This record gives sequence, structure tokens and C-alpha cells, in this order.
Amino acid sequence: MRLDKFLAVTATATRSEAGRAVRAGQVLVGGVPAKRADMQIDPTRDAVSYRGEPVLYREHYYILLNKPTGYVSATEDGREPTVLTLLPPKYTVLGLFPCGRLDKNTEGLMLLTDDGDTAHRLLSPRRHVEKRYRFTVKFPLTEEECARFREGLTLEDGYETKPADIVLDAAGKSGVITLVEGKYHQIKRMMQALHNQITSLERISFGPLTLPADLPRGAWRALTKEEETALLEAAK
Ligand code: URA
Repeated sequence: MRLDKFLAVTATATRSEAGRAVRAGQVLVGGVPAKRADMQIDPTRDAVSYRGEPVLYREHYYILLNKPTGYVSATEDGREPTVLTLLPPKYTVLGLFPCGRLDKNTEGLMLLTDDGDTAHRLLSPRRHVEKRYRFTVKFPLTEEECARFREGLTLEDGYETKPADIVLDAAGKSGVITLVEGKYHQIKRMMQALHNQITSLERISFGPLTLPADLPRGAWRALTKEEETALLEAAK
């Protein structure tokens, strides 16, 4: 791979920045200043550093975002800001996309990746990857309604949901829901089937990933090695 392309695909530098840094002797390959930005390197073997920092080659990127309300789960949208606009602009070259969707007014854990195979497997209906949501509703829920929720409900379009777990807080207007599928507006429509209405929704886990308590709304970070291993294991 060309050195300037490598620096671009790792979101280290644009191609023109890479050219300038090479001319200034700030890009080392195997400890030696690179002479040309178009030199060929082997990303899996050659140690590259850019302005004193090692550049790590990764086959895929996995980013955990704490989604705020007001952003749509898409890579592009003509009218609304997308979750990808919360990342630095240089990340656009990575080809990241949201793994699954959250509604515009849903907050919380969102995985962004460029790993299509893993995303496809995690989202496959056959795999039943668990997703947990903290919710609030307009009217207190009864135990009978929770029992119907746990058995699975018929939505307005006739779709029969799979059993979903629900744990209520004492006042009956909030709690945690666990889904093993991800139909469009699923929780909102399940609550509508119970003549109730979701007033807030936050995803707190996706498979083995949990929303970190210290990650502010709108902030993101790369998965830790342990999280990445657990995610790839869940997708096997
Ligand atoms: N269910 C919904 O209704 N909305 C979401 O964003 C996620 C699950």
C-alpha cells in the first residue's frame, strides 16, 4: 500500500498533509525518514510513525458512541445531522457506519464500525443478540401489561414480537427492557400496543457492550481490546 494512502486510511493525515510531513522528514518507516509519500509499505509489517507517534494499522475499526438525541443513525442524510458527524472529520475516510439503528430521539450506546461482516452477523435476526434499554413511559404499567410484554405482543401491523423482558422500577413508569430483535420503532410500538407511550429511551447495552458510565453524551471512544474480543466472539 502507498504510504500516503496508509496514513489516510488510518485517519492519521490527509494525502496532502502526508506529502508535507514526508518532505519535512516527519514520517518514519522502520525508523528511517520516508523519502517519498508514494513509496510502497506493508501495513502489517512496517513500523510507521507520524510526527513522533506510532501509526497502528487496523483491519477494522470499532467505535462506541454515546448517542445524544437529535442525530439520525445513517451515514448520510440530506436534512438531519447523522451520528457520524459526532466524529472528527478525518474519520470520514474510514467508511464507518452505524451497526443497527436508534431513533432520532433515542440516546445511548451505538456501535460504529467499518466491519460489514461482523455488523451483519450481530444484526441477523437468527442470532438474537440482546439489546437493553432504559425507558420511561407516560402512564404506570401494570403487572398484567408487563406479562403481555414478556409473552410477546401483536403490533398494529400484525407483527408478533418475540418475548421481551421488562423490569419495572417501583413507580411503574420506568425500568429496563431487553429485546432480542430490532424492528422499526419496536419499543415505541410495543408500548402503543399497551395504549401507553414512551417518553424517553436510552440503549444501555448491545450484546457484550455496555454503555460506559464515564462516557458523556455525544462522546465516543474506540472499543477496548477486551470489548472488541467479546464483540467478535458474539458475532462468531
Ligand atoms: N425501539 C424503539 O422504539 N426505538 C429505538 O430507537 C430502539 C428500540
